[in-house]
Amino acid sequence: MAANTGELRPAARRLAPLAALAPFVRPHRGLILLALLALSIAAGASLLLPVAARQVIDHGFTRGESAHIGRYFLGFLAVTIVMGLASASRYYLVTWIGERVVADVRNSVFSHVLSLSTEFFERVRTGELLSRMTADTTLVQTVIGSSASFALRSMVMALGALVMMAVTSPKLTAIAFLSVPLVLASIILMGRRVRGLSRAAQDRIAETSALASEVLNAIPTVQAYTHEPTDRRKFNEATELAFASGIRRTRFRAAMTAAVFMLVGASIVGVLWIGAIDVLAARMSAGQLGQFVLYAVILASSVGALSELWGEVQRAAGATERLMEILATEPQVRAPLEPARLPEPVQGRLEFSAVRFVYPTRPEHAALADFSLVVTPGEAVALVGPSGAGKSTVFQLLLRFFDPGAGRILLDGVNIAQLDPTQLRAQIAVVSQEPVIFAGSIADNIRYGRPAADDAEVRAAAVAAAADEFVRRLPQGYDTLVGERGITLSGGQRQRLAIARAMLRDAPVLLLDEATSALDGENERLVQQGLANLMAGRGGHARTTIVIAHRLATIQRLRRIVVMDQGRIVAQGSHAELIQGEGLYARLAALQFQAVT
Ligand SMILES: Nc1ncnc2c1ncn2[C@@H]1O[C@H](COP(=O)(O)OP(=O)(O)OP(=O)(O)O)[C@@H](O)[C@H]1O
Ligand SMILES: [Mg+2]
Repeated sequence: MAANTGELRPAARRLAPLAALAPFVRPHRGLILLALLALSIAAGASLLLPVAARQVIDHGFTRGESAHIGRYFLGFLAVTIVMGLASASRYYLVTWIGERVVADVRNSVFSHVLSLSTEFFERVRTGELLSRMTADTTLVQTVIGSSASFALRSMVMALGALVMMAVTSPKLTAIAFLSVPLVLASIILMGRRVRGLSRAAQDRIAETSALASEVLNAIPTVQAYTHEPTDRRKFNEATELAFASGIRRTRFRAAMTAAVFMLVGASIVGVLWIGAIDVLAARMSAGQLGQFVLYAVILASSVGALSELWGEVQRAAGATERLMEILATEPQVRAPLEPARLPEPVQGRLEFSAVRFVYPTRPEHAALADFSLVVTPGEAVALVGPSGAGKSTVFQLLLRFFDPGAGRILLDGVNIAQLDPTQLRAQIAVVSQEPVIFAGSIADNIRYGRPAADDAEVRAAAVAAAADEFVRRLPQGYDTLVGERGITLSGGQRQRLAIARAMLRDAPVLLLDEATSALDGENERLVQQGLANLMAGRGGHARTTIVIAHRLATIQRLRRIVVMDQGRIVAQGSHAELIQGEGLYARLAALQFQAVT
């Protein structure tokens, strides 16, 4: 798994990954300017406080001038109010931007993931993707939403305090500065390490969530096979790894914080010491020293905050990197820049010419080899052959989930590689080998075939798929919720919903992969009738249909049966013709029909 995600990941340097967020932040320039304004006001106000303090110390406590003391404290009060308001605005604005940016990043990652091809999903686990979309975006949010605002504030404060220190006492500033290179060096060196460690921690978290989602999705199997102890142990191992990884990161950050605090604290003590000697020798006033120390404290706390935040920012850089990898993944199957158009109306002529295909995950084995087949508009062809012959693969290529390694596939004479995959897929209705049902109502699931369909059409599709009867017996009829993955339905019921969905789709090309394999004889007969109606199409316009079937009885009546073995076509003809030979079909038929009679 680690190797898999590794493939996804280009090497990144320092904060570079954060730059990738720029397109998401840019639209909010106006707000950012406002936030900066609020920030400068707040920082400016807090930088005024030590000056006020100096006035109080040097003049407020001297007899004769004590009348002014009220003025100084009122000034203090005003500054505090401005500071409070400006800080609140900064906080609100920056958090708003953070929330907005993260929502946008989440949306665009999800939308991009939907555009990726089958090959990507074979490589990356769903749980891993989910973790990136939730855990990593949340991390990015803390950074943009709060850390960035704190960091900016601390930077401005540090700079301001520095300038004011220099103004107050150049000599003490120079002394204080001896420790700065040390502080900076330790922050930068350790921060870099934190980013790498943080990235590793996030990877570990993603692993736990991938594991959890796999197990949870198969909970009946897990429990039936009493596999819980193994899964507990695996999950435990994964969380422990995540924990260890998190602790390694934290240890580094703790060390970094300690180093910075001690360095800064020591230099403040040193400076105070020298300053006190100067005040005693009357080389500077007590107020001046007070003011200087206050600025030094502001500087120290800002730098301390920065060093901590630096760690946060590094963490977010790691998380952003993981998100941007997804965004940077190009779909293998892509729409051409100028997609070809299909002739209107689509006739549904299919042609495979010398197609060769290997699955990317199994490069040494040809799933299809030298596969050539023409299906004329409105024709219904059966694909039969032993398990693993490559029948379902034909559908995968026709839907352009993969592109063939050699040869061409044409729809109405247009190479499907030149079509926009969405346009191609809109011409196809498919009932796949494992019917997929979504959480939602029965009606939602049928309407999936054509979201614009009205209730009567949904109902008609269900009738044709022999689903209407069982649906009406359910307590809420078509509004019955079916649970995640249709868990509350039987296998045959799921299959009939999938057929109803394909019926509703009303596309010129129909692909049926073992569409009736889970049905009993009675329902199969009903569905076969519905399928026959569907294949016949509307207004005398038959649909082009490819039927995959293991049970030869269901396809016997089709005029053309194509027999496949090991990715190749080994024979074709009608049932009557094929049964006369000595080939694979005759053998399969002998086995199946013998068993029945
Ligand atoms: N996603 C995949 N990645 C790698 N290999 C695959 C993939 N899907 C199928 N294969 C392999 O390709 C070959 C053809 O598979 P395919 O699913 O087309 O068989 P099939 O004829 O539909 O079999 P069945 O009747 O059991 O459904 C098999 O050897 C299978 O192991
Ligand atoms: Mg199959």
